[in-house]
Amino acid sequence: MASEFTKLFDDWSKTYDDTVAGTDPEYREVFAHYEEILQSVADKAEGLILEFGVGTGNLTERILRQGKELIGYEPSGEMRKIAAKKLPGLTLFHGDFLEFPVPERSPDTIVSTYAFHHLTDEDKKVAISRYHGLLSPQGKIVFADTVFANKEAKEKMIQDALEKNYDRLAEDLKTEYYTTIPVLTEFFEEIGFEAEFTRKNDFVWLIEAVKKG
Ligand SMILES: C[S@@+](CC[C@H](N)C(=O)[O-])C[C@H]1O[C@@H](n2cnc3c(N)ncnc32)[C@H](O)[C@@H]1O
Repeated sequence: MASEFTKLFDDWSKTYDDTVAGTDPEYREVFAHYEEILQSVADKAEGLILEFGVGTGNLTERILRQGKELIGYEPSGEMRKIAAKKLPGLTLFHGDFLEFPVPERSPDTIVSTYAFHHLTDEDKKVAISRYHGLLSPQGKIVFADTVFANKEAKEKMIQDALEKNYDRLAEDLKTEYYTTIPVLTEFFEEIGFEAEFTRKNDFVWLIEAVKKG
């Protein structure tokens, strides 16, 4: 079980918390309102919570601070080390969106921030379908991630990045698997979720998908 992005995140782990604080101009807008975005996901999480792509544990910390029950999964060993050091009581496994040790009880909420775009659209659909089977009745998925209103909006963002000479950001937008709201809406509806999207900055949307009864 290894994400194709594991090496990138092993390398990024030590400076990741500086990046989210806005030190890298290319990524400043991606991480604009980062704390508030994480808080909005934490506030919606309830019951037994599974978190994918824990990273350095910033969302995790907020959820645990609220006294909630959480199991975390993270494919990067270096990221896991940092999260485990920050949060000594955390239940944290080596795992990813698709391959992970399944808990004995049905989870009520599945959360993730800034990570779902690491799956291809095909794999996103497989993951959503798996979570539908796993979640308790009326369970929900609460993600925050970069998504685009449509293909044109994504193309425009790549052009804007190139015009600003934000070459790393442009390359990232071109090569990772950032999807669109219509694609995700179709997956959620087909699989049996009712989904709502709320814009959080120029890149990130809060995605809440509740299992239909
Ligand atoms: C941009 S960081 C986000 C970390 C944290 N969730 C946050 O909001 O700050 C993306 C995280 O997703 C993890 N990741 C990459 N591919 C993944 C996958 N297929 N499944 C789960 N997590 C993955 C990376 O290792 C990294 O820790």
